[in-house]
Amino acid sequence: MGDKQIKDEEQIKQEMIDLLMEKITGGFSEKVIDYGNDPRNCGTLEKPDGYAKIKGPCGDTMEIFLKIKNDKILDIFYTTDGCMTSHAAGSAATVMAKGKPVRECIRINQSSILEHLGGMPKDSEHCALLAANTFHKALRNYAIGRKK
Ligand code: FES
Repeated sequence: MGDKQIKDEEQIKQEMIDLLMEKITGGFSEKVIDYGNDPRNCGTLEKPDGYAKIKGPCGDTMEIFLKIKNDKILDIFYTTDGCMTSHAAGSAATVMAKGKPVRECIRINQSSILEHLGGMPKDSEHCALLAANTFHKALRNYAIGRKK
């Protein structure tokens, strides 16, 4: 058996493993699967300083609760009635924002959430948009509360 044939067989084996993994994981990154199955900061907060609830175009709802002190996000929780990818997006947004100054969090958006998650299949990218929109609405709710 020549070297070329061995390489071809190994390449074919690797391609089969990659295909199998894609079938098993549904094309989701390790982080999406991790956050989706073990959500971070999933829950609610009593008397939040900022709060928002949005229903996305797919019909899923997300809520975000903020506890803010000295313009820093001390605590942040989300809830969703959506699927695994909604949990991954909610987890990502909250992990990215927790402990950060509000002005830094303004940069959190759909792209940065997708980047944090190592990407998502096209069909699921709207979950990151729902998380980003809900987060920004909660920040606006906080800003309005401060003005009163
Ligand atoms: Fe609806 Fe993800 S499937 S927000």
